[in-house]
Amino acid sequence: MSAIEARDLTKVYRTYRKERGLWGSVKGLVRRKYEQTRAVDSVSFQIDEGEFVGFLGPNGAGKTTVLKMLSGLLNPTSGDARVLGFVPWERKSELKRQFSLLMGQKNALWWDLPAQESLELNRAIYGIDRQRFNKVVGGLSELLEVTDKMNVMVRELSLGERMKMELISALIHEPRILFLDEPTIGLDVVSQQRVRQFLRVYNQEHRIVTLLTSHYMQDIQELTQRVLVIDHGKIFFDGPLHEIIDRFSGHKIITLTFEKAETRDFARFGEVVDLTPVSVRLKVPRAKVTEVSRELLDHCHVSDINVQEVPVEEVIRQLFGERREQRDRPNESLELAAR
Ligand SMILES: Nc1ncnc2c1ncn2[C@@H]1O[C@H](COP(=O)(O)OP(=O)(O)OP(=O)(O)O)[C@@H](O)[C@H]1O
Ligand SMILES: [Mg+2]
Repeated sequence: MSAIEARDLTKVYRTYRKERGLWGSVKGLVRRKYEQTRAVDSVSFQIDEGEFVGFLGPNGAGKTTVLKMLSGLLNPTSGDARVLGFVPWERKSELKRQFSLLMGQKNALWWDLPAQESLELNRAIYGIDRQRFNKVVGGLSELLEVTDKMNVMVRELSLGERMKMELISALIHEPRILFLDEPTIGLDVVSQQRVRQFLRVYNQEHRIVTLLTSHYMQDIQELTQRVLVIDHGKIFFDGPLHEIIDRFSGHKIITLTFEKAETRDFARFGEVVDLTPVSVRLKVPRAKVTEVSRELLDHCHVSDINVQEVPVEEVIRQLFGERREQRDRPNESLELAAR
């Protein structure tokens, strides 16, 4: 049995749209106008024990909505899901004790209490034995380097410190499944790194199933073995991150350093990404990399040459950009995978 299973999971939000003006309000009383958003559209996937999966997609793609359904905060419009064999929106307490949802944009801790007391409340809610609680909180706060912040009011903590407390709070009942919705949002580079490091170690030690959304590709690259990519409510990729690069990036980057200044027109070799008198970075179609490299080596005084993959951020950005453009041109095929 998979730890998490979604089958044709679909969520249509119905929002009431008020018409403008007084007449609109009056009409609204009689005949309400609804707008429908198909936020999640027939999403299916399976996640097994111990997996750390990244959930990627542009703003509004449907990631949070999927996580909310898997956490039982929302009922789906149609479709089905199982988390550890339970139907999440039935909100069985056996399941509640085995998973956690952390939302980087929302607060789960009590704002007006010191962190320690706020965690205490959650201890009471989950009915966790005190000794065990002390051990877990002690261990986590040390790992996250916040032992000296436990008595600070939550609202006085820095964003990074608060996020670390939120993580502790999400883990005090030692869940088997962790849903992380942008846990590093807004954090500085050092705190992001800390949180990532923590998540990596924690996942390895506890083999906890983790589904993580983040707009920081570094989180995804460093932590996850597999990614689900969603856009407009539909999953269009499920596999290792490097396959996205193989499949969707038709280019490589060639970087050349010259022995002396070169004044050649490099545009005929590929797209010039960066140019100085003694170096150039070129984006070249995959199939032409060898040919172009050879030609450049023959014609220029090259002191160094380096061929790299297009950075994953760039691939993702292009990918979503292209999908958007293609959607705006309805006559053309949406199929990108064929390229
Ligand atoms: N409560 C709601 N009522 C109506 N529409 C909603 C509601 N929540 C989300 N939506 C809409 O559903 C779609 C998916 O939203 P969702 O929050 O799941 O996206 P997301 O992938 O998490 O985006 P982001 O990366 O910006 O967090 C969006 O079009 C959003 O406007
Ligand atoms: Mg979201």
